[in-house]
Order: sequence, then C-alpha cells, then structure tokens
Amino acid sequence: MSKNLLHIDSSILGGHSVSRALSASVVAKLKAANPGLAVTYKDLAAEPIPHLSGAHLAAAQAREGQHDPALAQDLAVGGKALEEFLAADVVVIGVGFYNFGIASQLKAWVDRVAVAGKTFRYSEKGAEGLAGGKRVILAISRGGFYAAGSPAAGFEHAETYLRGVFGFLGVTDLQVIVAEGVAAGPAQREASVKAAQEQIAALQAA
Ligand SMILES: Cc1cc2nc3c(=O)[nH]c(=O)nc-3n(C[C@H](O)[C@H](O)[C@H](O)COP(=O)(O)O)c2cc1C
Repeated sequence: MSKNLLHIDSSILGGHSVSRALSASVVAKLKAANPGLAVTYKDLAAEPIPHLSGAHLAAAQAREGQHDPALAQDLAVGGKALEEFLAADVVVIGVGFYNFGIASQLKAWVDRVAVAGKTFRYSEKGAEGLAGGKRVILAISRGGFYAAGSPAAGFEHAETYLRGVFGFLGVTDLQVIVAEGVAAGPAQREASVKAAQEQIAALQAA
C-alpha cells in the first residue's frame, strides 16, 4: 500500500521563506526515494484555519445536525485537518520562528489535530497518545541562535513546543532540521541553509 505524506507550510514570508525551501527539499528527497508516496500539501498561510473557539468545541461535541449551521464550514475545515493528519504516515512541517514561537497559523492547525479521543486520551494511567506510528519531520528556520547551551536557548518555544505536542500525541519518530541564525547576515544564512540541506540529503527514505 502506498504511504501518505502530509506536507504543511506555515511561513508568512512566501517566496523569501527559508522553512518553505527546506520543507520542499525534505519532500523532494523522500519522494525521489519513494515515488509512490501520495503527497497532500497544506499551506496554512494561504488558507488559514480559523482559531479554535468555544462555539467550535461545543458544536464538535453536539450530535450530527444539531449544531449552528453557521459553524458547519468551520467544523468541516477542522475535521479535514484532523483526517489528513490521521491518514498521514509521514508529516513534514515547514516552521518559521516568529516572536520566539511558531506562527499562529500553525498553532491553529495544532488546535484542530490535538483532539481528545482521536489523537490522545486521558485514562487512569494519565495521558496517552493515539497518533503514534507516524514519522514527523520539522524543517525550522530561526533568525537568531537558540541551540541548547546558547544564551537564548530558554527563548526557543517552537522546536520545544512541537516536540512536546507530537510526543503527547504519541509520535516517537520525530526528526528536526534547523537553519539557525538566518538573520545574522548573508554568509551565516548561506552556511546555515547549506548545513540544513546536507541533513536533508542524508534523510532515510520513507
Ligand atoms: C514576524 C517575525 C517575527 C520574528 N521573530 C523572530 C524571533 O523572535 N527570533 C528570531 O530569532 N527570529 C525571528 N524572526 C526571523 C525568522 O525566524 C526568520 O526570518 C525565519 O527564516 C522565519 O522562517 P521563514 O523564513 O520560513 O518564514 C522573525 C521574523 C518575522 C517575520
């Protein structure tokens, strides 16, 4: 059976985005090694998912046909994001680092896929992830330097946050490719992107 790859971009910088270039390289590399991969592409900047709301939560818990028809579109968008995530064997996410965290567009997506009873559950044993068995690859671009041990490491809330989220959902196969310091001048940007591309070239096939 062919594998499904879900490719997500969240950068707001369009053609200038570093994370978009990196996530595209990851997908190209995996596709070259396995041409049978079925790729679904989602651009969260071009087609933003609305913020999760109390009305959405209430409607999602109501029985079919009982919710406010005005919320139908919102429920459909959230349901589609969840279905795409559940169906994916591999998830590749381009992550721009903004104000010490992820783009709010990507947070809105996380809010639609972290769903009790679907991707995690609470039991007497505590929280249990239900979305294991996927491979997740994050392609992150950061303007400054936040690697472990660096003075600003404590301000890194994108990689740490996403590692936490996917771990909570049961994902154990998570790879992170980072281009750091891309705002620290052209030479640094070039060197960081080159190093990230080398990591991508060494990725295992899906
Ligand atoms: C709105 C905005 C906020 C940013 N905030 C930070 C930040 O807090 N720390 C940082 O190191 N770089 C910051 N940057 C620089 C980005 O991390 C850098 O441009 C990175 O390449 C973004 O990913 P992208 O190119 O895929 O959009 C910011 C850039 C933008 C546009």
